Amino acid sequence: MLNSGNKLYKQAKKIIPGGVQLLSKKPEIFLPDLWPSYYKKANGSIVIDLDGKKYYDFTNCSVGMCPLGYANKKINNDIIKTIKDGNISTLNSYKEIECAKKLLRLHPWFDMARFTKSGGEAMSVAVRIARTYSKKDNILFCGYHGWHDWYISANINNKSNLNKHLLPGVSSLGVPKYLKNSSIAFEFNNTKDFLKKFRKNKNHLAAVILEPTRSFLPNEEFLKEIRFQCTKFNIPLIFDEITVGWRVACGGFHKKLKYKPDIAVFSKATSNGYPLGAILGTKKIMDSAQDTFISSAYWTENIGFQAAISMIDFYKKKNVHKILIKKGLKIKKIWLDISKKHKIKISISGLDPLPVFSFEYKNNDDMMTFFTQEMLKKNFLANGSCFVMISHTNYMINLYKKNLDHVFLKISKILKKDNANFKKYLKGRVKFAKFRNPV
Ligand SMILES: Cc1ncc(COP(=O)(O)O)c(C=O)c1O
Repeated sequence: MLNSGNKLYKQAKKIIPGGVQLLSKKPEIFLPDLWPSYYKKANGSIVIDLDGKKYYDFTNCSVGMCPLGYANKKINNDIIKTIKDGNISTLNSYKEIECAKKLLRLHPWFDMARFTKSGGEAMSVAVRIARTYSKKDNILFCGYHGWHDWYISANINNKSNLNKHLLPGVSSLGVPKYLKNSSIAFEFNNTKDFLKKFRKNKNHLAAVILEPTRSFLPNEEFLKEIRFQCTKFNIPLIFDEITVGWRVACGGFHKKLKYKPDIAVFSKATSNGYPLGAILGTKKIMDSAQDTFISSAYWTENIGFQAAISMIDFYKKKNVHKILIKKGLKIKKIWLDISKKHKIKISISGLDPLPVFSFEYKNNDDMMTFFTQEMLKKNFLANGSCFVMISHTNYMINLYKKNLDHVFLKISKILKKDNANFKKYLKGRVKFAKFRNPV
């Protein structure tokens, strides 16, 4: 029987192309036909669906936007006051300056900040500033950086160029063909690949961009070489901290690194679920923003600034990254111990606060769909990633462990008895990740 969320999703697909705004929130990515799809309330790590069912969220938790938990009380109270005081006016928000100062204080190698409302947009601003500064066009990058033309153009000459950068099979339709070869991907932690592509393109490069980490830590030689070449040829080095920022340090992941970028871009966790993107950089490069046109009405809106200010104060007081790391390690240990107990082969990766696991079998997708289906019955939103929030209490984590143990036992039985035929036990279709819905 369809739940209310599923019924609504069917309507959504008729009036919203693809049904949702973010690929990562498509119900089909988790559990086609059965996923609750919509929430009525979200608080801490608890989500209540349209039918009033309560779930503990142990997925990537809204793509890692809320390390302090959904609807964090302190942030919400500050925001409510901001709204009451008027969130917009002809005059600018003084909170913009306060927010910039707080971010710059945490990253003293930068001098200036610009703001947007989302991550991909902030990356586009960084690219524009770098292009204006260097008076060059091309970008050498690795990692995922959003949906904008500069990034997706990497797939024009070969639609698998982005396959190793988080989202495989991304279409470049709609991106002007003349951008072909303007963005070139290199492999993470592969110094040889970087050098080969850097040497070939260096005279036309506006920037080198990377996520300083995602699933694996960067090796020293890789980062050292990138920093060295960028400095030597005066090419801005940009770190995309949109996902990894605020996970292992109060601010960017790069605070833990010996090599600093010229620009770092933040969003998501920076404002714990309220819209904000931030571009921080050195004066020499950032000042070029005045020589090009970068301007947008809603970038002046107050809520995102207040959310970031409140989040940073809260974060500093509670040393949030230490809590996130501890909880993430606990989740990784649960996966390891329970998979060993039931002799199920899994691989575990990801930063400690952003842990990920996958089944190591041919039909991983069938298995993961089954896992999600069974965990849902036990009131858990769960799949192969669990981006921890400080609101994941010990009680919840222990309950997750107990239920995961039950579900892994079922999985081990199907592996043994039923020749791994998980499809037989699925109530809906196997999960898939495509914007276009099958007819
Ligand atoms: C590293 C990275 N860059 C850019 C983006 C795009 O951010 P947004 O979805 O806010 O546009 C994301 C989002 O997942 C990301 O993880």
